[in-house]
Amino acid sequence: MGGVRVAAVGDVHLDADVLGRYRPALEHLGGKADVLLLAGDLTRHGTPEEAHCVAREFGGLPVPVVAVLGNHDYHSDQQDAVSAVLRDAGLAVLECTGTVLTCGDLRVGIAGTKGFGGGFAGACASEFGEPEMKAFTRHGRELAAQFAESLAALDCEVRIALTHYSPVPETLLGEPLEIYPFLGSYHLAQAIDTVPGVGLAVHGHAHGGSERGTTPGGVPVRNVAHPVIKQAYNVYQLSMSSVLTPA
Ligand SMILES: [Fe+2]
Ligand SMILES: [Fe+2]
Repeated sequence: MGGVRVAAVGDVHLDADVLGRYRPALEHLGGKADVLLLAGDLTRHGTPEEAHCVAREFGGLPVPVVAVLGNHDYHSDQQDAVSAVLRDAGLAVLECTGTVLTCGDLRVGIAGTKGFGGGFAGACASEFGEPEMKAFTRHGRELAAQFAESLAALDCEVRIALTHYSPVPETLLGEPLEIYPFLGSYHLAQAIDTVPGVGLAVHGHAHGGSERGTTPGGVPVRNVAHPVIKQAYNVYQLSMSSVLTPA
């Protein structure tokens, strides 16, 4: 039975000062993985100049590279220009969209979104009160709904969910409780759990968090923020059996 080896890292926060940090390890990726996922915060301040650093670091690799942006990549209000630079370098940049790769005899679908905050069951924002509060909460809920549609639309055997913000609180363990609502949203987990066949959910953003968690529906979640995994990428093995009986 075929499988797919998924390499992933997030929060590489590239600019000219750290250009080249990851490249030596990436050159050997072809023998170790079938795809590389980038879980957002690819730049420090979201400028096109920094995006060119990302393009040099992650362009021209021997495996497909699939990315979402993070909040840092939006900071200069030039997220569209950042995405364009990355796409010109051959990276797929997802935002409530998806892509399907063929790995051996397996079609592997990846849907991605930056996602947004809002918090988790028992301690989350609600659409009540001031317009600003309602807008904050609504944005996360609507993004998650669009993300669920993009996951469901993938024509594949194995689905992977790629976000920047976390779908679960478990992978935030180590971060201050007070900032959990700014690190993720239960709406993302609901989106993942409503779609059958999701074998893995990958996110970043929580630099002080933990690597491993699980959605309420049993989908393995991995926080691949570089300060968490402390290496150029982690590799996760996925097969049809791992989708049917998640670890
Ligand atoms: Fe980050
Ligand atoms: Fe972030």
